[in-house]
Amino acid sequence: TRILVLNGPNLNRLGSRQPEVYGSGTLADLERILNEDAPEGVEIDLRQSNYEGQLVEWIHEAVDTGTPVILNAGALTHYSFALRDAIALLKEPGVPLIEVHISNVHARDEFRHTSVISAVSTGVIAGFGFDSYRLALVQLTAFSGR
Ligand code: DQA
Repeated sequence: TRILVLNGPNLNRLGSRQPEVYGSGTLADLERILNEDAPEGVEIDLRQSNYEGQLVEWIHEAVDTGTPVILNAGALTHYSFALRDAIALLKEPGVPLIEVHISNVHARDEFRHTSVISAVSTGVIAGFGFDSYRLALVQLTAFSGR
């Protein structure tokens, strides 16, 4: 089985972007860590785009293929109704999507306290650095969600 790990705007700059907030690890480091964590038979398909429409299309792909998703939507989290509507499409086929954030968004700027995607996500993990993704991977591979 495959798990999509989707990353939104500016996350290709991890490593040099505000390391005091996001740490010094790069997206390539994250990919390596998740591959190390992934149980036998679980394939990590990590992608990043700075474009809202690309993320919408990747969510559509998850709907059509029934692939579970770990999503860090970056700033789109706070205002993208297009992404929210795409994520809502996962409900019917029953495909899980976990919203993740590297930083604790609730301890930061006011505009980061709002997520327009949380209500259509299966669950939310924020504030644990790259471990936010690792915890989501554990949830998707080890637990049934009931
Ligand atoms: C982020 C938090 C967002 O507010 C921000 O725009 C990001 C990264 C995080 O992982 O902490 O790009 O999603």
